[in-house]
Amino acid sequence: TTPRTVEINGKTYTTDAWFNVSSTVLALTSRKLHLQKDHPVAITRKIVESVFPGPTYKYYNEFDPVVSTYENFDSLGFPPDHPGRARSDTYYINKDTLLRTHTSAHEAELFRARESGGYLISADVYRRDEVDRSHYPVFHQMEGARVWDRNQVPNGDLAAAIREDLARLPKHNVRVEDPNPPFHPERNPLQAEHHTPEEAAAVAAHLKHSLELMVNEIFSRAKAAAAKQSPVPSPEQQQETEPLRVRWVEAYFPFTSPSWELEVFYQGDWLEVLGCGVSKQELHINAGRPSQIGWAFGIGLERIAMLLFQIPDIRLFWSRDERFLRQFRGVEDDLARLRPFVPFSRHPACYKDVSFWLRGTSAAGGNDRKGVGAADWHANDLMEVVRDVAGDCVENVRLVDEFMHPKTGRRSLCYRINYRSLEKTLTNAETNEMHDRVVSALVERLGVEIR
Ligand code: PHE
Repeated sequence: TTPRTVEINGKTYTTDAWFNVSSTVLALTSRKLHLQKDHPVAITRKIVESVFPGPTYKYYNEFDPVVSTYENFDSLGFPPDHPGRARSDTYYINKDTLLRTHTSAHEAELFRARESGGYLISADVYRRDEVDRSHYPVFHQMEGARVWDRNQVPNGDLAAAIREDLARLPKHNVRVEDPNPPFHPERNPLQAEHHTPEEAAAVAAHLKHSLELMVNEIFSRAKAAAAKQSPVPSPEQQQETEPLRVRWVEAYFPFTSPSWELEVFYQGDWLEVLGCGVSKQELHINAGRPSQIGWAFGIGLERIAMLLFQIPDIRLFWSRDERFLRQFRGVEDDLARLRPFVPFSRHPACYKDVSFWLRGTSAAGGNDRKGVGAADWHANDLMEVVRDVAGDCVENVRLVDEFMHPKTGRRSLCYRINYRSLEKTLTNAETNEMHDRVVSALVERLGVEIR
């Protein structure tokens, strides 16, 4: 049953048929982990901020998570049929209002409000997703942007002014692989109607150097922390005095061109850490500042915090357990105190399977009865029900079997739900009771038929 109105951070919103936010997720809108003193997400935010100092960069950490569909998607040039807009992926309050899926939702308003220089935003963002140790429906992102105004640089020489700013940035010894040309006509086009190749190349160079400084700062802190954990350096740790390796990979975002992802070589793997690019000129034009040009990036904080602090499960960030929180006390004001998280005992896991038939057949898309028809079945709907009922007691959920009846064409699915609390050992009775509630909720809310 959908509430007629919901209250989020003191404001009331009217729902409609698009509403799909569970009460568990609603309750998380007030947590603001990025602002909680000494929380690992807040500490990670501070480290990023330290690389983008004021007064050039201004920090915005208090934007409300409720934004319009226009701000989150249309203002950024997302096409009307972009999959990110689907109700299976995004939390809607109503057709025109949603929980932001990324901090880019605030780009348009900041480009309008800010005259020059740059900004950093940190905020909670919301995405319907699967359940496992690295996915959570709420996480935190930081967005950074930098702009220059064509009319405010000496002799109108924008490229030269940007290159001068670049020359003033600190140097680094990061080993950078950047195999592709700065633009590619199909894969990564220059916005030729708006930028000269020289201007865009200068913006790109400033962007890349700034972000190389940022990941260098983050990863040297991660290495220093790991080294403190084991006072006798291992052979791997000795190698860690070697410079950080990063590489630039071409990417696509509707609101930047050219665009890139930055990958960092860490513990033997290439990790994708952020997305970025030269902002689409339409954003500046629509913000009433056609003479501005600049770059933007977005980075997820939990993934960074997990490797900085060696935090093994994303659910821990939401824990109010002192055994978790006390390990980070004092670090926000003195980053030299950063240490890896020491896990408290891992409690036993217990999995339970649930098998069910979907209503109707995939072909007919039949949805004549209450519930989700086979044609519009989406696994995220199941994930959401599991999270809503069993909360953080579920470590992961995965599809273990799928079957189509050869005669009736009905589809059956089997999911394995792994129950494990971060805080205590679940008794058999507790797990069974929780699983029974999950199964009933699947029947009631999704209309599936248990096998
Ligand atoms: N908002 C993008 C995301 O969430 C990241 C991004 C930000 C990319 C800014 C380019 C520029 O994936």
